[in-house]
This record gives sequence, C-alpha cells and structure tokens, in this order.
Amino acid sequence: MTELIYPQIPEHSLMVLIGPSGAGKSTLARTWPASQVLSLDALREAVSDDAGDQDATAEAVDVLHLILERRMARRRFTVIDATNVTRAARQPLVAAAKRHNMPAVAVVVATPLDVCLERQGLRPDNQRAPEDVVRSQHHAMVHSHQRLAAEGFTIAFADTLYRLEPFLKQLSQTREDGLRRDGSEGLLLVRRFFGPEILPLWRWQPGPAQRTGRDRVAEICLGQQHLTLAFRHGVDNEGDFDFDFGFDVLLPCPFDPECAGQAWAPVYSVTDLHKALTGLMDKDPDIICTVHGRPDDVDDHEAADDDHEDRTGLQTQPADAVRA
Ligand code: GTP
Ligand code: MG
Repeated sequence: MTELIYPQIPEHSLMVLIGPSGAGKSTLARTWPASQVLSLDALREAVSDDAGDQDATAEAVDVLHLILERRMARRRFTVIDATNVTRAARQPLVAAAKRHNMPAVAVVVATPLDVCLERQGLRPDNQRAPEDVVRSQHHAMVHSHQRLAAEGFTIAFADTLYRLEPFLKQLSQTREDGLRRDGSEGLLLVRRFFGPEILPLWRWQPGPAQRTGRDRVAEICLGQQHLTLAFRHGVDNEGDFDFDFGFDVLLPCPFDPECAGQAWAPVYSVTDLHKALTGLMDKDPDIICTVHGRPDDVDDHEAADDDHEDRTGLQTQPADAVRA
C-alpha cells in the first residue's frame, strides 16, 4: 500500500475524499480552488435548490460524473467532495481516472465518530445527518480502508496533508487582488461593512464635498431599486454609535410624509440594508431627520427646525442624489 504525504500528490490526479458526514471533507476541499472541487452537496443544490434533498442524489451523481469526465479529458486536478464510503460510489470515480490514465488518490478523513456526531448538532436542520446514518458511514469508512488499494486507489490520510499553508496563500492572494481593485475607489469600508458582493452595485455620487467636509453620498442601485447612503465619520459626539465612522441610509421622514428634510439611520450590515429597502427600518430609534431631529426630540415636543446633527449638512447636497 502506498501512503502519501504532501506535497507528493500528483498534479494531474483525481482526489476522492472519504469520510462520514461531519468528518471535515468540505472544510478540507475548500483549501483547493473552488473550480477544482466537485461537491455532491453543491450539485444536489444545483439540481434541486436544496443541498440536503436526498431525493436529488441520483441526478447530482449523474452531473458529478459528467463534469468529472470532461475535466479528466483536460487532465485537470479534481477533488471529489462526497462521503464516498461505499465501493459503489467510488468505483465509477476510479474507473474514470483509469480511462484517462490519471492516478486516483483516496484521502481518508478519519475523524473520530463522536466528533462527527457532535458537529451535526451545530448544523441547520436540512444539513444534519441522522445519528444512525453517521454511525454507519463511519463504520463503512473504517472498513473501506483495507479495500482501497485493491480498488485502484493510492491512499492518503487527511491529517497528513499540509493544507493550511496553501489555503492561506490562496485566500491572501484573493484578498490582496480585491483590495487593490477596491482600494483606489474608497471601497474598503464598503466591503468591510456590507461584503464584496455589494461592490459592483455601489456608486459614489459625484459632486462637491458636503458642507461638513466629511460626508460622501453613494447609491446601491440595481434596476429600478436603489438605496442612498452617506459615509459618516467623526460625528459620534454623543457616544450613541458603536463606531465613530460608518454608513447611514436615507429613509422617508418618520414624522411627516411631506417633510422636505432627509431622514438618516445608521446601517451596519447587509441585513440592515435589506431592512431599509423593505421599510423595516422606517421606525428605527436611531433615525435622525434633518428637519425634525431624533424621535426623542419629537416626543419631547422640542423645536423641530434646529440643526441637531452635523449630518444636516447633507441638506445641501444636490436633489438628484435623493431619488428615494
Ligand atoms: P458532510 O458534508 O455532511 O458530509 O460533512 P463534511 O465531511 O463535509 O464536514 P464539514 O467539512 O462540513 O465539517 C463539519 C464542521 O467541522 C465544519 O463546519 C468545521 O467547523 C469543522 N471542521 C471540519 N474540519 C475541521 C478542521 O480540520 N479543523 C477545524 N478547526 N474544524 C473543522
Ligand atoms: Mg460536506
């Protein structure tokens, strides 16, 4: 039996992960570039919209075999992320590798049964495997071990692979590329608050600096729907915010539908953006209207036309920045 340690995994090979649910196969698989990983869960989701839909397994396996075949024709390195604890599941994989004259490496993810079971408890319902299923998968994995060489695999154990270094290298590369692209346009904070997926929809509004000299206005725009945001920093004199910089979203004035001012509320995450767009933030306690002030001010019947906040400077921004 041939045992492998990193970095002896052949460049042009098929890697078949073997282990019960919760063993850590997908976690290990993510250390390779996504294009090199064929995940049965992901393909179940691709054909049925539900990664946990066991009725979609046969179709997902069909698709997996088809893509594997096409990749091997190009001699591309491929990782199979599925339990693969049965000979029936492995046989077509090793056969494909043989057809294309590529080595098949079985990587046994030999995590103790109690750890696999404990990890099920942390998962959402549709991704949780029943205890008896995990037990029998674990049993099948242990028994597979002696048969793998006869089936045509070279054998490696997951804990002999040194994948943290290449994983960090790949993540760091992706992150650096992203930062280089976004850094020049002042998008680093946008990425940090709302995630990289928002960046393509983000447009800073052109125009002169605001009266306060520190607020920039932007829009998140997709088709007919949009949100207007302002970058705020150094306005946290009252200690009401977790950060002394951040973003505010423009909302309808909660006090008067005819109000000519602007109402802003802080947003800290993409969940807040969703709330703002669907009206769930219209009664936010941190909302500040440039005419009416804070909800507290209105409740106390205080003068509504004072300059309550530095953000009143945004009143001077061009009206076309506000299409809400
Ligand atoms: P199925 O998809 O159900 O077959 O399970 P799986 O084998 O793909 O397990 P997965 O990679 O999803 O691992 C389950 C959980 O275990 C993950 O959410 C991780 O939190 C944890 N885990 C797995 N491998 C490791 C590891 O090497 N180190 C650490 N720290 N946690 C791990
Ligand atoms: Mg998985």
